[in-house]
Amino acid sequence: MTSDPTTPADAPARRGAPLPADLLDDAERLPQQDVRDLQLKRLQQTLHHAYDNVELYRRKFDQASVTPDDCRTLQDLARFPFTTKADLRETYPFGMFAVPMSDVRRIHASSGTTGRPTVVGYTEQDLSTWADLIARSIRAAGGRPGHKVHVSYGYGLFTGGLGAHYGAERAGCTVIPASGGMTARQVQIIQDFEPDIIMVTPSYLLTLLDEFERQGVDPRSTSLKVGIFGAEPWTEEMRREIEERMDIHAVDIYGLSEVMGPGVAQECVETKDGLHVWEDHFLPEVVDPITDDVLADGESGELVFTSLTKEALPVIRYRTRDLTRLLPGTARPGFRRIEKITGRCDDMIILRGVNVFPTQIEEVVLRTAGVAPHFQIQLSTRGRMDHMTVRVEARSDAGPEQRDAAARAIAQGVKDGVGVSVEVVIVEPETLERSVGKIRRVKDQRGA
Ligand code: DLL
Repeated sequence: MTSDPTTPADAPARRGAPLPADLLDDAERLPQQDVRDLQLKRLQQTLHHAYDNVELYRRKFDQASVTPDDCRTLQDLARFPFTTKADLRETYPFGMFAVPMSDVRRIHASSGTTGRPTVVGYTEQDLSTWADLIARSIRAAGGRPGHKVHVSYGYGLFTGGLGAHYGAERAGCTVIPASGGMTARQVQIIQDFEPDIIMVTPSYLLTLLDEFERQGVDPRSTSLKVGIFGAEPWTEEMRREIEERMDIHAVDIYGLSEVMGPGVAQECVETKDGLHVWEDHFLPEVVDPITDDVLADGESGELVFTSLTKEALPVIRYRTRDLTRLLPGTARPGFRRIEKITGRCDDMIILRGVNVFPTQIEEVVLRTAGVAPHFQIQLSTRGRMDHMTVRVEARSDAGPEQRDAAARAIAQGVKDGVGVSVEVVIVEPETLERSVGKIRRVKDQRGA
């Protein structure tokens, strides 16, 4: 298969400077055993808090015949029931809050593609912890006091914008609260205000990059040094594409509203090897999504979180639906890492018996010359069979022969790498829908 010579797959990854020791906070310096001890103490408190103050937890614990006192070691957590999005929906809007409403300072909600949104709340202390953890994440990404941070995550009920905002302020940075949309103006602001850091979904960053080029501005010439990208899955190929086109460090931030928002886990710029979970506040487990068994570190499965300090909305064994595995800490040895998220259980497409994730398609598209990093997956039914069409935008300088070659290379790359045959259609530049926040990659027209 052809690959773009400007972004060879084996290009050495760029590394940023490690965090100076005086910018690590106390918890980041703790040895692993001290983190474990702290987790157990906080877990016991959280289980009591949830049981005593949330009717749903009391009912579920009682049904499972466990009480908070049964948790004597971290392993005992496996005896407690899981929590799911359905529990939050069942108690919509505020039924899982563990404090009186007068102590709730802020509410966020996740849009949810189906059904009711899930609603989450924060006490003053929760908001402070959240800001601390985003500030810690920004430092891990290479941000320093005095940096300007351009926040293009959406402001509003989504946790991305306001979460990043208060964290950047806590880190001693200057915030530019751009939110999502008005793309042409964002490009102008980046040129004029000269931010050091951008926080944005990777798919919206691609929209911004196109706009830079449309305005005739070289995206490598901006003041930006670091991009902190999350809220949706993205691949190593996407990292290379962004780093190359913008001449910045691209690092990953993870989180979900039910557990807090962004800043549950963060990749360190000096290693770029997955995301350290801020384990002083969140206890991760990985479970088999079918059998629910807890898996050993290193094994892949569904990520599950228990909050350790949250007041307004403690979550016990919350099923994220995100797929990854736990790895030992590197840049922060006291905390474990999660591998870059490959996708969600819900995003998995089963095509003629083969499991396919949109990120696997992304890997192949971004390795291929002649096409832009914009693609869409369409599912349809042909006869009795499911059919996948990958629509990919041509680069504007790609002629008919290069487009044909790209279509063949992508189809072959998916066949070799994923093991399924797909149809690849190369479409004209600037014809696929652009992202302003989280992108929706898959259009499912099966049964339509
Ligand atoms: O997306 C919080 C967030 C905002 C994270 C900004 C990072 C940056 P929700 O809208 O509740 O919250 O969506 C959470 O998004 O379960 C994952 O499926 C996905 N997700 C979030 N970060 C990543 C990431 C925010 N770095 C859901 N990689 C999660 C892959 C991610 N998927």
